[in-house]
Amino acid sequence: MRISPCGLMVWMFSGFAMGAFPSSVQIGGLFIRNTDQEYTAFRLAIFLHNTSPNASEAPFNLVPHVDNIETANSFAVTNAFCSQYSRGVFAIFGLYDKRSVHTLTSFCSALHISLITPSFPTEGESQFALQLRPSIRRALLSLLDHYDWKKFVFLYDTDRGYAILQAIMEKAGLDDWQVSAICVENFNDANYRRLLEDLERREEKKFVIDLEAERLQNMLEQIVSVGKHVKGYHYIMANLGFKDINLERFMHGGANVTGFQLVNFSNPMVIKLMQRWNKLDQREYPGSDAPPKYTSALTYDGVMVMAEAFRTLRSRKVDLSRRGNAGDCLANPAAPWNQGKEMERTLKQARATRQWTRSSFSHHHELLPFGRLLTIKLLF
Ligand SMILES: *[C@@H]1O[C@H](CO)[C@@H](O)[C@H](O)[C@H]1NC(C)=O
Ligand SMILES: *[C@@H]1O[C@H](CO)[C@@H](O)[C@H](O)[C@H]1NC(C)=O
Ligand SMILES: *[C@@H]1O[C@H](CO)[C@@H](O)[C@H](O)[C@H]1NC(C)=O
Repeated sequence: MRISPCGLMVWMFSGFAMGAFPSSVQIGGLFIRNTDQEYTAFRLAIFLHNTSPNASEAPFNLVPHVDNIETANSFAVTNAFCSQYSRGVFAIFGLYDKRSVHTLTSFCSALHISLITPSFPTEGESQFALQLRPSIRRALLSLLDHYDWKKFVFLYDTDRGYAILQAIMEKAGLDDWQVSAICVENFNDANYRRLLEDLERREEKKFVIDLEAERLQNMLEQIVSVGKHVKGYHYIMANLGFKDINLERFMHGGANVTGFQLVNFSNPMVIKLMQRWNKLDQREYPGSDAPPKYTSALTYDGVMVMAEAFRTLRSRKVDLSRRGNAGDCLANPAAPWNQGKEMERTLKQARATRQWTRSSFSHHHELLPFGRLLTIKLLF
């Protein structure tokens, strides 16, 4: 039997790459303070993957190396990244804030290690940093059109950069809106109250609030304390977790409140996951006594996306090993992982594999006792 040169080459090529896929795949996990529930979602996702009875779904185990960082300064982040890197992780799931984003992204791009994240401190995407969080910009602008707001206050912090602010100011210029944009980053309770009184004198009744959970909750408390949660006011919450916000005290006021909700709790896939979630023991899985926040849902999905990417690489018989690399993150010159780009590409394709946050664009209205909730699901 003759073997054509072409056939021989194919055989040699696959022979070279075969068998290299590990049965345990190392991944990194980076969590900053106040992310207990996200960490719970991460552990649950890995547990469910590793105990899956379906061998084609989980032909390998995911082995996490996790660092929980109290203060996400660049020193702590460097230590965590480097220790995970030296243990041979192929990708890192990370929650971080704007103090650590530059350190992380520069390591990732120097070493070609992908970072999968629900955090959003940068605008747009940098190489090797995959954002799981969709941008709210388009949905927010279409909502403002829908309500036909011409004069409103935009309250924001800089934790996610200035992307939304820029979009709003551009639109304001085009459409002649009167927008007061106010950064409330370093505000304390008294500052909030003074600001609200000030805005009252200027007869501002409409607000877009672009703040994440903690600061938002604080702001809402001050709104209630100065009695601006009543009829005649309208607040748009410009984040993705409307149902994560505690609006109990607002309920009694009568102001209109509108928000966005990324996770659809009526979705059959989410209902099924919730049944599993509700069975978790909260002593072992902190935060599982409450429904997952959208950042926790994204965390779970992040693990799914990683698993799917590794399945794809495995079926393509990609050799993951980091040959000739001692795992020194500070090596000079940096020795980037030769499969890093392939990993990044595959992860991007795998982003469609979401369970909690898969969605298509749709609007719907729900009338609540205290006003109107408009939920807009977002398109990835
Ligand atoms: C097993 O997992 C694969 C890959 O996710 C999926 O396509 C298949 O439907 C699953 N089989 C069963 C019986 O669940
Ligand atoms: C609040 O919502 C109601 C019902 O949609 C509407 O009639 C009213 O004008 C809204 N109030 C404000 C301040 O936007
Ligand atoms: C949420 O999911 C349910 C069930 O799949 C669906 O009927 C509903 O339209 C979804 N809601 C939104 C806002 O997409």
